[in-house]
Amino acid sequence: MLLGITGGIAAYKSPLLLRRLQDAGAEVDVIATPAALEFVTPLTLATLSGRPVRSEIFNLRGDGGIAHTSYTAEADITVVAPASADFIGRLAGGLADQLLLTALMASHMPVVLAPSMNVEMWDSPLFQRNLALLRSLPRYRILEPGAGYLACRVEGKGRMPEPESIVKQVIAALTPQDLAGRRIVVTAGPTRERFDPVRFFSNRSTGLMGYALAEAAVQRGADVTLISGPTSLAAPEGLNLVRVESTTDLLAAVLAQTGSAHAIVMAAAPADYRPRAYSDEKLKKTADGLTLELAPNPDILRTLAEQRPHLFRIGFAAETQDFEKNAADKAVRKALDLIFVNDVGDRARGTGFEVDTNGGWLLDGAGVRVREIPVRPKRIVAHILLDELVRRLG
Ligand SMILES: Cc1cc2nc3c(=O)[nH]c(=O)nc-3n(C[C@H](O)[C@H](O)[C@H](O)COP(=O)(O)O)c2cc1C
Repeated sequence: MLLGITGGIAAYKSPLLLRRLQDAGAEVDVIATPAALEFVTPLTLATLSGRPVRSEIFNLRGDGGIAHTSYTAEADITVVAPASADFIGRLAGGLADQLLLTALMASHMPVVLAPSMNVEMWDSPLFQRNLALLRSLPRYRILEPGAGYLACRVEGKGRMPEPESIVKQVIAALTPQDLAGRRIVVTAGPTRERFDPVRFFSNRSTGLMGYALAEAAVQRGADVTLISGPTSLAAPEGLNLVRVESTTDLLAAVLAQTGSAHAIVMAAAPADYRPRAYSDEKLKKTADGLTLELAPNPDILRTLAEQRPHLFRIGFAAETQDFEKNAADKAVRKALDLIFVNDVGDRARGTGFEVDTNGGWLLDGAGVRVREIPVRPKRIVAHILLDELVRRLG
């Protein structure tokens, strides 16, 4: 992708935006206007992007390519952040006297603009006219600036959105909305089973896989409900978050939320057992030790198979051996439509609990392998699983 930077004070955030875009998997080329380079140095931008930073029209690329046409041939999207009032005016006016303007004019890729300026400039009728013109063209997506304390020491509208928020909008602009109109429920995280006011038992699930699935489904346009056990993860934006604690709570929430849903992805790791008794008083430490008797928890997948037979159901299997065989048995036993199995026994493989990556095998409801999923960041694995869901929902 192309990151355009123009001469606004918010250019001080552009190197961080560059980093966040790379974190999200983008390869980023930078074109900065000469004014932008008054605010942020080419050295910083070139070091972070690992590529030369372009600013001038009348410079050929090192390989002899012509910058304003060859850059854009390689990019899927451009983000201009910050986009100055001046740049918005030139762009809306069809001018091409800067490298960034010529690069955009010589291509058709979508352009995300993050205008950022002093509030008086923002309110100026000429600026608003230029912005309205760009807004009317489907190619341009305008990010609303935030309101607050501006660099010019006044309060008002004009602040560039934070890099994380820009990254989200870029991803949304690039992601096919193939789950639009679908209601998807995702469960995530461990459950806690209490046995006195201060103690519980739980498991190693962090919720990372379920949260990645929920966020990926939001990006693809789904109406998402995320039912989460206790995790330390921040609440994702753009979805309905329901927090639960025990497996019994999880079952109740799943039944309450799936009445009109199209699919459920059960990435949570509910405890199979709960203590048979709960003590209202904290249990005292004794020299004899403590014996806890465990009762089986309700089986959420089986209950769904009985009570929500038309819901598309994706299950997860966390296994330490005989991965595909165990998962195939589980798929059939629990009447799942798809099951993803991963190895949770060996952290070094980069799959399973407490790591940012995952990988394993995806099987269908009959236990037949659909595909192997190589070890990738969980957000990528999430999209691979949703690709299969989209195919099967039709
Ligand atoms: C300290 C300083 C801060 C500025 N901040 C902004 C800003 O936040 N937004 C803006 O539109 N212009 C801002 N300007 C004005 C632009 O730098 C000026 O309009 C310039 O011509 C923009 O060039 P460009 O659009 O080619 O990058 C600022 C100027 C200075 C000196």
